[in-house]
Amino acid sequence: MGDFETIIYEKTDGIAYITLNRPRALNAVCIKMRDELYEVLPAVKDDPDVLVGIVKGAGDRAFSAGADISEFGTTPSQAVARSVRWERDLWGMFLSVQKPMIAAIHGFALGAGIEMAMCCDIRIASEDAQFGLPEANLGMVPTAGGSQTMPRLVLLGRVSEIVFTADRINAAEALRIGLVNQVVPRSELLPAAETMARRIISCDQTAVRYAKEAITRGLDMPLGAALEMEKRLAFALAGQRRGEK
Ligand code: COA
Repeated sequence: MGDFETIIYEKTDGIAYITLNRPRALNAVCIKMRDELYEVLPAVKDDPDVLVGIVKGAGDRAFSAGADISEFGTTPSQAVARSVRWERDLWGMFLSVQKPMIAAIHGFALGAGIEMAMCCDIRIASEDAQFGLPEANLGMVPTAGGSQTMPRLVLLGRVSEIVFTADRINAAEALRIGLVNQVVPRSELLPAAETMARRIISCDQTAVRYAKEAITRGLDMPLGAALEMEKRLAFALAGQRRGEK
């Protein structure tokens, strides 16, 4: 992959690392970063050497403090139109990655930061992580998927409270409400994400991908249709296995 300005892309032992790399701006998601993420995610998707992706933030202070507010309002209508478009596209791109994605979250995870983490399958946080959707305070609604992804992880009343009040929550509370899978000391954040990645890699990768498809697609279906879809995937996997023999 080429060099990027706002992210770092590395891969080793089946794991792709995407590092949000604007630490002086708390890894705020500017349009350039959006474009670069949009470019790098297909590599995670299509590279047969990559089995699991880890998304993390550079620097000491943040996973990401959200959309780059310095890009808001310079040309109001165009900026809003652009931001709606790019956030939707990036969300779709994240969703289309069939491989498991893990967010390793430290410091601030606000707005598009927490929303990007919620596009991942598994979230591991360090004890210093702080989460929030500040949009309501800025006269906006979450548009990087947050109003839809959070209710799929957290009970609805709590989601409404987080969105309507723009309050921040800490890592312990994020764990309690199911927003993150695990909270670890800061020094153990990346090792914990890598341990999780290796546990996934030790399983059958085709089965993992079919399972991801079953989980993510099924959420948008009525139960009966979702059970049918699960059955179809199970048959397809079994058929593939027979073909392999
Ligand atoms: N977009 C652009 N720049 C951002 C940013 C964002 N979302 N969040 C932080 N930064 C920049 C600051 O402008 C500052 O840059 P500077 O050093 O050139 O002045 C730098 O990151 C450090 O942030 P600072 O505000 O000085 O740190 P803090 O510890 O006082 O506060 C936050 C940290 C996260 C509480 C605060 O930066 C903040 O509220 N950021 C905006 C969060 C937000 O509203 N995101 C958009 C959601 S839609």
